[in-house]
Amino acid sequence: MPLPDAEHAGPRSAPDAEHPVSGSPHPLPYYEDPSPSSGCRPPRAWYARSDARRMSLHGAWRFRLSPTARGADTTFARPDFDDADWDDLRVPGHWVLAGHGAPVYTNTRYPFPVDPPHLPDENPTGDHRHAFDLPAGWEPGPALLRFEGVESCARVWLNGQEVGHFKGSRLPHEFEVGHLLRARRNVLAVRVHQWSSGSYLEDQDQWWLPGVFREVTLHHRPAGSVADHFVHASYDHRTGLGTLRVECDPAGRVTVAELGLDLATGQSATVPVTPWTAETPRLYDAELRTPGERVPLRVGFRTVRVQDGLLTVNGRRVLFRGVNRHEFDPRYGRALGPEAMRRDLLLMKRHNVNAVRTSHYPPHPAFLDLCDELGLWVVEECDLETHGFGQQEWRGNPVDDDAWTPALLDRARRMVERDKNHPSVIMWSLGNECGTGRGLSAMAAWMRERDPSRPLHYEGDPSCADTDVYSRMYADHAEVARIGRREEEPLADPAADARRRQLPFLLCEYAHAMGNGPGGLSEYQRLFETYERCQGGFVWEWIDHGLRKRTPYGETFFAYGGDFGEELHDGNFVCDGLVLPDRVPSPGLAEFKKVVEPVRIGAGLPRAVRIGNLHDFADLSHLAFRWSYEAEGDVLAEGPLTVPPLAPGASAEVALPPKPAGRRGREALWTVRALLAADTPWAAADHEVAWGQLPAAPATPPPVPRSAGPRPRHGEGNLILLGPGAFDATTGVLRYLDGVQLEGPRLDVWRAPTDNDEGAPWQPGPRPAEQWRRVGLHRMRHRVATVECGRDTLTVRTRVASAGSGLALDADYRWSADGGRLRLEVSVRPYGDWPCPLPRLGVRMGLCGSLMTARWYGGGPGEAYPDTRAAARTGLWSMPVDALQTPYVRPQENGARIGTRWVELARSDGSGLRVEGEPEFWFTARRWTSEQLDAARHTTDLTPGDRVWLHLDHAQHGIGSLSCGPGVLPEYALTVAPARFVLVLRTVR
Ligand code: GAL
Repeated sequence: MPLPDAEHAGPRSAPDAEHPVSGSPHPLPYYEDPSPSSGCRPPRAWYARSDARRMSLHGAWRFRLSPTARGADTTFARPDFDDADWDDLRVPGHWVLAGHGAPVYTNTRYPFPVDPPHLPDENPTGDHRHAFDLPAGWEPGPALLRFEGVESCARVWLNGQEVGHFKGSRLPHEFEVGHLLRARRNVLAVRVHQWSSGSYLEDQDQWWLPGVFREVTLHHRPAGSVADHFVHASYDHRTGLGTLRVECDPAGRVTVAELGLDLATGQSATVPVTPWTAETPRLYDAELRTPGERVPLRVGFRTVRVQDGLLTVNGRRVLFRGVNRHEFDPRYGRALGPEAMRRDLLLMKRHNVNAVRTSHYPPHPAFLDLCDELGLWVVEECDLETHGFGQQEWRGNPVDDDAWTPALLDRARRMVERDKNHPSVIMWSLGNECGTGRGLSAMAAWMRERDPSRPLHYEGDPSCADTDVYSRMYADHAEVARIGRREEEPLADPAADARRRQLPFLLCEYAHAMGNGPGGLSEYQRLFETYERCQGGFVWEWIDHGLRKRTPYGETFFAYGGDFGEELHDGNFVCDGLVLPDRVPSPGLAEFKKVVEPVRIGAGLPRAVRIGNLHDFADLSHLAFRWSYEAEGDVLAEGPLTVPPLAPGASAEVALPPKPAGRRGREALWTVRALLAADTPWAAADHEVAWGQLPAAPATPPPVPRSAGPRPRHGEGNLILLGPGAFDATTGVLRYLDGVQLEGPRLDVWRAPTDNDEGAPWQPGPRPAEQWRRVGLHRMRHRVATVECGRDTLTVRTRVASAGSGLALDADYRWSADGGRLRLEVSVRPYGDWPCPLPRLGVRMGLCGSLMTARWYGGGPGEAYPDTRAAARTGLWSMPVDALQTPYVRPQENGARIGTRWVELARSDGSGLRVEGEPEFWFTARRWTSEQLDAARHTTDLTPGDRVWLHLDHAQHGIGSLSCGPGVLPEYALTVAPARFVLVLRTVR
């Protein structure tokens, strides 16, 4: 068991702000002193339930905010202090989200001078008071006052007695207070400083949110109750036996009824068990009994190893389909309730996520219980980041300064001790982006000693001196492939290089999910499946940290950096998640789900489908397969498909039924889906896990009309008439279709740049959006050269170019008519030496705003771009125009539908416009223009106009991940080149 050390020596009188910590040449107030805490009990394992009493102190506390930490008097801690003129504050919570002060967002920069361990005089300080009675029957005796999380430094009094102070925001701290408690009217007083020496260790890329943001509880500790316990439950995959040993202070007994075990603590037993994995999270209910307490345990048997260059669990290589998760709620910041935690995990499981990196601090402890129960691999990261020192070449970096080592060790201990009993936690991470230093090595050494059962992770040290895995962030595909072949750039030190080259590899961050994107996921997944060394990764990140805010008109939107008047901020870089702030999945999550699906369904032998089981542990018996046969989206037949319960890694060809008869000429497809066969704790039966489509019959194009079409002729009002179309005789632009007014299609190459088009400022330039603006793609002008009436065609020749530029696109529109249809052939020839790809290539039309619904046959239901198209399945889809939009927190290009064979935009009475492709196109429809979308900073800046703008694109540029990673892969770049595409327009009634 961990011995109390000097820092953890239990209750003692604590130094106070007026009498700073002595012994240092420059006495520092406690909140600046780098030492972690005073008066706290040693950290211990967390458990949600026991028969010892506990009481929650959550609720409305009294609160007062002062602008500085210095000189504030402490009389408020006295029980009889009159706090009548203070405010109420909900605890847990962050005061800046409750109307006191404001949140601040910075990525790597400290929002105060880098002057460690000092803090500015402006140090918002929140004094809290809470009066409580003990519940009836609370026995006198030892009791612990426990704080699960306070940002960033707290000083605590109970009934006027100071009990101590602590730092380490996302870590638990306990004080012995039994001797201070009374039955009635206990007064807890807590002073919280927004800034402390701890802030130098907490420079994570997120909002700075001070406050008592996790629960405060009181725990009765009867004589003989559990001081700490450590569950060791391993699994030997060769024998199928699990070994259990529970260390406990004080000694007691452990029973596992299901396994027939009744053991003394410290004693071990080896029995046949079903192991725990993230895919098969088998937990055994157990009970730990000491003379003073009964604690229910849930034991998962598993063994994590790095062996033969691979990270294994229970003897098998695992592949991480992971996400980085910050704790975030748009209203409550990091004060997350149990519903939000469960919601995150259900969403993850339903989207085939199998791993979480708790970036960049230990999560609420209950989250890990849920991970044990639902099944996720967890890389738990310590609350440590000193990234801001990178801006000064890591000069003064606390992780390389012995004065800070006690604080680092304290953080390591508080994490490991709290969470050591979770089977889901399979790796400890030292922290994030701290450079390198002795302090990190000290943490690693302590962790290895205390818990040799888990490998260590840290990304920031290329030499991997302290780690068991080689971890990187945002490496591009080519580099990942080299690493996969163990052919990466060598380290200067041959010994370190040889060691690193033997390590398994993971991307602790990749696929930056900022705004529209990330692109290139499929290509990463292919690498992870090709090279066994590449064991997957963790998308950056799970959720957009947009804070709910209101405009002066009362509309709500999600705010980002700069929206609270911060003097330093990093804008919307805080919104880079797979789910929007309100946890609505973004298209990126749908894409991720498809790309990482654990069953691969693809074309097989003729008349068969190939099914591959990509699970690491589970066979396919938990899934039921179904097939359907669809012609142009109509399901003609469907039924169950019998698939053998393939072992992990196995695949098979499964015969498809005979093709049903159907109308000829229509494109037909097989869709095969893998569904949950029965309810699980995270989704109901029939939840779709994976799917695939196979072509069954191509569309046969309608016969080309033999006779020539109608001749264009001049009509009234300077119009040229051709079939159902009426064109402006001067500009050649389509004005009416079947008498319905529209703004005819014109060439369009602009899109409101995505965050990935903009690229991070540190990316080597020029970045796409910058190039596009330089060329003037956002302000293209159209010059009509000629409008030519031919025998049965109207040809309009134009040049499209921007002011100040010699580059141009020559666009010819060749119109012809066939019955009620207008056929448009667009030919584009670039002129000049184009330095950059195009954002899009297509035409844009302005249509009547009463066209409310889109119905289309093609890729859907969600948006897709060239390198984010895996999740688009071909089918018949329908949705309101407004639902086609993705409300990215910072508005940007969105909503394209890929592979469209035809689309109809209709009014409520069904009348409208139909566009067909020859063969297909992309469509995007919205109630604002690309220019308006580009100008908007928040969703509330977009107001629907009286038109629907319909983009019909021949091509789109890829998305990539340049907002913090590699750009668009060459195969997805929309290179400027001659192009030709055809669209057919007609009205529908
Ligand atoms: C990483 C960092 C994350 C986040 C991300 C960009 O460097 O570890 O915390 O800042 O980049 O969004």
